[in-house]
Amino acid sequence: MIEGIALERGHEVILKIDVDNRNTLTVEELKQADAAIEFTAPSSAVGNINFCLESGVPIVVGTTGWYEHLDAVKETTAKNNGSMVYATNFSVGVNILFAMNKQMAKWMNQYPEYAVKVEETHHTQKLDSPSGTAITLAEGILDNISRKKAWQKQDVSHSAPLADDILKIAYDRRDGVPGIHEVKYTSGIDEIRFSHEAFNRKGFALGAVLGAEFIVDKKGIYTAADMFGF
Ligand SMILES: NC(=O)c1ccc[n+]([C@@H]2O[C@H](COP(=O)([O-])OP(=O)(O)OC[C@H]3O[C@@H](n4cnc5c(N)ncnc54)[C@H](O)[C@@H]3O)[C@@H](O)[C@H]2O)c1
Repeated sequence: MIEGIALERGHEVILKIDVDNRNTLTVEELKQADAAIEFTAPSSAVGNINFCLESGVPIVVGTTGWYEHLDAVKETTAKNNGSMVYATNFSVGVNILFAMNKQMAKWMNQYPEYAVKVEETHHTQKLDSPSGTAITLAEGILDNISRKKAWQKQDVSHSAPLADDILKIAYDRRDGVPGIHEVKYTSGIDEIRFSHEAFNRKGFALGAVLGAEFIVDKKGIYTAADMFGF
């Protein structure tokens, strides 16, 4: 899907690397690219990121579930004067949702009678849980609602109560779901919900190509919020 969009936008795809040919990739080959787009798996992302940074190739990172290594990746980026844009979600719609979520949390900080919760549903092949997108939504809430101190994930089928200062991220895995995210505020008298549902993966793929166009002439680390200007 990324290749199709890149070609439509007038780019050339000079290398396609997956788990079967990753070991044959050389620095010389990689250096011929203006940018690399990395959507693989949590266990391989950091190795691929470092390889691109050390080869001097700007990189767009869509893989989620590796962020505990973000500080080390930032150091590698600085050391190599490299360029990277990463995002838990590259779709325009979700980035609008992220901006709305932060604003909503600022308002809801004044209304402790509302309980807040994040929910996400994805296909059963997804390796990480909760989704990176759900974590970004949770962080947007934690940064703005003082009664919540940390998030905790829970399988949707478990409903054990959490401490009052913990924000729940409920996750569900169902066949064929590209991605659904919802934020819910519930009081004794009403409920406010806002959500995003991806119908397919085209929004992520377009965002990844836009990310490559964005990062190609920049230095340093950026996120989708920088890219979309929210
Ligand atoms: N940021 C976003 O917008 C966004 C959107 C969708 C998916 N994702 C994330 O992207 C990642 C990939 O998801 P997907 O649905 O495209 O998965 P996928 O299984 O459809 O594709 C993963 C690809 O990575 C390749 N791969 C695996 N290990 C590799 C390695 N060591 N080196 C090179 N290639 C390797 C596989 O061969 C496969 O082609 C996941 O972490 C997912 O959560 C992010």
